[in-house]
Amino acid sequence: MDAAHIRNFSIIAHIDHGKTTLSDRLLHRTGTIATRDMEAQLLDSMDLERERGITIKAHPVTMTYAAKNGETYELNLIDTPGHVDFSYEVSRSLSACEGALLIIDAAQGVEAQTVANVHLAMKQNLTIIPVINKIDLPHANVAQAKVQLEDILAIPGDSAILASAKEGIGIEEILEAIVERIPAPKPTNAPSLQALGFDSFFDTYKGVVTHVRVFNGELKAGMTVKLLHSGKNVEVKEVGSFNPKPYIREKLLVGETGYFTANIKSPKDVKMGDTLTDSRNPSPALPGFKEIHPMVFSGIYPINTADYEHLKANLAKLQLNDSAFAFQAESSVALGFGFRCGFLGLLHLEIVQERLRREYNMDIIATYPSVVYRVTMTDGTVKEIDNPAFLPEANYIEKIEEPMVKAFIICPNEYIGDMMALVSEKRGNLDHTETLDSRRVMLTSLLPLNEILIDFHDRIKSITRGFGSMDYEHATYSQSNMVKLDMLVNGESVDAFSCIVHRDKAESRGRALAAKLKEVIPTQQYQVAIQGAIGGKIIARETVSAMRKDVTAKCYGGDISRKRKLLEKQKEGKKRMKSFGTVNIPQEAFIEVLKA
Ligand code: GTP
Repeated sequence: MDAAHIRNFSIIAHIDHGKTTLSDRLLHRTGTIATRDMEAQLLDSMDLERERGITIKAHPVTMTYAAKNGETYELNLIDTPGHVDFSYEVSRSLSACEGALLIIDAAQGVEAQTVANVHLAMKQNLTIIPVINKIDLPHANVAQAKVQLEDILAIPGDSAILASAKEGIGIEEILEAIVERIPAPKPTNAPSLQALGFDSFFDTYKGVVTHVRVFNGELKAGMTVKLLHSGKNVEVKEVGSFNPKPYIREKLLVGETGYFTANIKSPKDVKMGDTLTDSRNPSPALPGFKEIHPMVFSGIYPINTADYEHLKANLAKLQLNDSAFAFQAESSVALGFGFRCGFLGLLHLEIVQERLRREYNMDIIATYPSVVYRVTMTDGTVKEIDNPAFLPEANYIEKIEEPMVKAFIICPNEYIGDMMALVSEKRGNLDHTETLDSRRVMLTSLLPLNEILIDFHDRIKSITRGFGSMDYEHATYSQSNMVKLDMLVNGESVDAFSCIVHRDKAESRGRALAAKLKEVIPTQQYQVAIQGAIGGKIIARETVSAMRKDVTAKCYGGDISRKRKLLEKQKEGKKRMKSFGTVNIPQEAFIEVLKA
């Protein structure tokens, strides 16, 4: 189709505001799907996604729409993962579009994720069409949603379309607005093909299938394209689009969206956001490319050591459809052989673990997650450290910087004090607060990523009785007083529990870990010391007392000195045992602690 009749858009929304329901409606109304014969909600396909209600990955869908002006348009709906863990993926997908539908639940109003997503869309200069959804609900408050659009997001409230995806209200207006308000794609005037590869998945028969948006020139089977950032040349085998099932097309023209296949075996060979061009007459790369780097690392170990190979195979399978997930072999004294895995964020980590457990039926244990620290050595070199085991000795370190995030927390007014306390407990700095409406405020603050890894989200939910929401974007690196905390069992460091923590938090964490370890380490013949240490300094200690046989049992009556002698002898023996013996800790004990 000629570019003037193409519109590329995506839908951005906070979780549960109705993105999937609305997508479904649009597919329906344009006759792209005849009946709701497929799964209840078409665009979310993975089981886990449906359960958690987050869209991780879906295809761009091409719809045909006969508009009121008598012309027929090709509308490409490009799905984005809603969560900021995947913010680079979101911005890649957004950059394949000229516009975005912004959905706001009329009963809930603007939420944290709405803000984060609108920021991303504005950075890409997209035309935003606000849609106030769920107007059928009895407690819908359209006026308030409009005020929030203006005050928080600087989007004119009057430009909003009122809709109910559930009842099918406003669908026509939305389609018309897509045609009228979103600009048609324009060629870039480069000398040849420029196409953006914004996502990929693995197909057993076709190999890697890459989602593309053509910005200039045309993409067709048989041509040799150069992947500018990967530096590879590949021959295009097939091009096509999704409706929503894939179908083959002769070529993709300027502004069109679809997929291509080539002889690409591993998704890692196509970088997200790479530019495809004609290998014989190359054009420059499209702007905005970034390498994706995992932000959060954790060790994943099989609970049953015999499962190691099995785990390796499954991690490789997962990676096929998730090029942002990285892993490499590592071993731990405590946990045996396993893998160091890299994730985009905490949610990504949870999803991978869940999928391993559920889809692949694996029994696994994950170590305490770590962020990537930037360590400047005294000789001026800079190292990136994602594993506490590799943090150099303190004497050689000039400074340690940690990644920070800009977090948006939205909560009811009455919890603002508790929320500020939580932010400061997590070493955060409150930047500013804004009033959203008569009930809620938004706190914008700068927080260390490390501090929000574990329980931040749960804490917000529990403090606000479920009414708070939080989202974040990656901000800067900032210097921080971080130390390595080691846990020692009878003087031996147990690697699985080493972690990098802020100096102010080292003691409490050391004490908590020591107490937990004490609970799970079985009693030995001799006394066992559990210690938390920073460098050589012990900051926490617990003792597991020894198993004791009553050696004085056969000593009826008699002189007290005889009893004492027996006890002294026992003490000697235990001391000797301790100097030779190593503490035998079952793996389950470690797992118990890591689970806590
Ligand atoms: P995620 O995929 O979790 O991001 O959610 P989503 O934004 O795709 O929301 P989804 O379409 O799954 O809708 C969430 C819930 O809201 C579902 O229970 C829908 O039935 C309901 N819902 C969606 N649109 C409307 C609407 O217009 N009115 C009412 N009353 N409910 C709606």
